[in-house]
Amino acid sequence: MFVLIWATLLLSVISSSSYTGGSVKETCDYGFCITLSEREITAEAGLCAVIPCSFTPGYGFTVSSVVWFKCEPSKPRCVESDIIFRSNKNRRNIQSGFEGRVSLLDPDVSLNNCSIIINDITESDSGSYQLRVNGIRYRTTDGFTFSPRATVSVKDLTQKPTVMIPLLTEGQHTTLTCTAPGLCSGSRPKITWMWRGTGENHSHITGNITEFKTENLTAVTQRHSSTLTFNPSAEHHGTSVTCKVSFTNNITTEETVTLNVTWILKISKNSGCKVQSEVLTCVCISEGFPLPTIRWPLLKNHSEYSVVTTVSDHTVNSSVTVPVKDHIYTTVRCVSSNENEEVQQNINIIVASERQEDQHGPSAVLPWVVAAVSLIVNVILIICVLILWNSRKKVKSNQEDRTYMSLKKTDQSPEYDVIGQPLN
Ligand SMILES: *[C@@H]1O[C@H](CO)[C@@H](O)[C@H](O)[C@H]1NC(C)=O
Ligand SMILES: *[C@@H]1O[C@H](CO)[C@@H](O)[C@H](O)[C@H]1NC(C)=O
Ligand SMILES: *[C@@H]1O[C@H](CO)[C@@H](O)[C@H](O)[C@H]1NC(C)=O
Ligand SMILES: *[C@@H]1O[C@H](CO)[C@@H](O)[C@H](O)[C@H]1NC(C)=O
Ligand SMILES: *[C@@H]1O[C@H](CO)[C@@H](O)[C@H](O)[C@H]1NC(C)=O
Ligand SMILES: *[C@@H]1O[C@H](CO)[C@@H](O)[C@H](O)[C@H]1NC(C)=O
Repeated sequence: MFVLIWATLLLSVISSSSYTGGSVKETCDYGFCITLSEREITAEAGLCAVIPCSFTPGYGFTVSSVVWFKCEPSKPRCVESDIIFRSNKNRRNIQSGFEGRVSLLDPDVSLNNCSIIINDITESDSGSYQLRVNGIRYRTTDGFTFSPRATVSVKDLTQKPTVMIPLLTEGQHTTLTCTAPGLCSGSRPKITWMWRGTGENHSHITGNITEFKTENLTAVTQRHSSTLTFNPSAEHHGTSVTCKVSFTNNITTEETVTLNVTWILKISKNSGCKVQSEVLTCVCISEGFPLPTIRWPLLKNHSEYSVVTTVSDHTVNSSVTVPVKDHIYTTVRCVSSNENEEVQQNINIIVASERQEDQHGPSAVLPWVVAAVSLIVNVILIICVLILWNSRKKVKSNQEDRTYMSLKKTDQSPEYDVIGQPLN
C-alpha cells in the first residue's frame, strides 16, 4: 500500500516536471509516453549519433525489451524488416548494416531509458528512427510502437583531430598527442603521423615512436589518441606534422601543425673584442629561437658608444664601439637572452698595437697580410736592383749566358738568385 502511494507520488512528480520543462516534449498515446528531447539529430560521417530517449509504459505494462526501427519518413509505421536494434539477445531480422553498431546508453530497460548510440555512421544512416517496447500486460505478451520519430541527418565529417604540442626544445625528447574527433564506441580509427619538411615530400620523423591509446570514458564512449615521441632538433623548426585519422568506409580527417623548436641559446666562438687607438670594438654573435637580444653591461659605465645590430634568420650580430681612454678592461661581457633563457660570455680583448698570435676575427689577420705583402714587394725590389747591378757589371757576357740565367730564375727561388749570383 505504502509502495503504491510512493510510486504514484513519484510518478506524478516526474510527469509534472516533464510537462513544466518547456523544451522537453513528452508525447502520450494510450498511456504510453515518449520523450525525444532531440527530434532532429545531425551527425558526422565516421563518428556516431546519439538518439536521446526516455519513455513511460502504460498502466500495468512491464517492459522486457526495446526495439528500434529505421524507415522512410513517408511510411506511416515501420515494419519488422526495418528493425535495426533489439535490446534482447534476439538477432532475428536485424538489418545487416546495423548489426553491432547500435547500443543502448543504459542497458537496463526497466529504467525506461531508450537512448541509443549508433556508431560508424555513414550517409545511408540518415532517416527516421522509431521505438517499440515489448513486454507483458495482464500476464500476456504485448507491445507498443510510439508514433513520434527521431530524424538523423548525416553530413560530411568536418571535425578535425586535436593535436597537442608541448613546448619543443632542441635535444629534449618530446611527445605530441593527436586525439581523434568523436567520443564513440565504434571501430577503432587508424591514426597516422606524417612529417612535411621544408620541401614537399612526406617522410616519417626519424626516431619516431608512435603509440595508440583508447580510453573508456563511459560504457559506450571512448577516446582514441596516438602519441608521437621524437627528439626535436633545430632542423625540425618550421616543419609541419600532420596527424591523419582514418575511420571505417575510407572516411578521413587530418590536422597539420607547424613545429616551433626552441633552440638552446648559443654565443658564437666568432665573437671577439679588440682595442685599437683607444677605441674598443666588440662583436657578439648569438643564435637561437625565439630570436635573442644582445646586451652589453659594459655600456652602463659609458655615455659615448655606438651599437649596430644585424639579424639574419636565427642569428643576431651585435657590434659595439666604445672610446676607452683610461679604462683597461681585459674582458667584455656579452649577454644574450630571449623569453626562455639567458646566456652570457666574457670575451677577451685583443690589444691591436701589440703583436699577438691570435687568429680571432678578420681584423686580427689584416696586419699580418699587410706585413707579408710589403716583405714580398721589398724582396722583389732588391732582386731587381741586384739584377740591374749585375748586368751592368757583365756587359760583355754573351746571349747564351743571359738565356741560361733567365731560365734558372724561373725554377729557382729569389733567395737563391740573391745568394748565387755574386759567385758567378
Ligand atoms: C539515459 O542513460 C544515459 C546513460 O546512462 C544518460 O546519459 C541519460 O541522461 C539517460 N537519459 C535519461 C532521459 O535519463
Ligand atoms: C618510423 O617510421 C618508419 C616509416 O614508416 C617505420 O618503418 C619505423 O618503424 C618507425 N619507427 C618507430 C620507432 O616506430
Ligand atoms: C574498455 O572497454 C572495452 C570493452 O568495452 C574493454 O575490452 C577494455 O578492456 C576496456 N579498456 C580499459 C582500459 O578499461
Ligand atoms: C579507400 O581509398 C583508397 C584510396 O583513396 C582506395 O584505394 C581504397 O580502395 C578505398 N577503400 C574503400 C573500402 O573504399
Ligand atoms: C610558432 O611560432 C609562430 C611565430 O613565432 C606562431 O605564429 C605559431 O603560432 C607558433 N606555432 C605553434 C604551434 O606554437
Ligand atoms: C662600471 O664601473 C664600476 C665602478 O668603476 C665597476 O665597479 C663596474 O664593474 C663597472 N661595470 C662594468 C660592466 O664594467
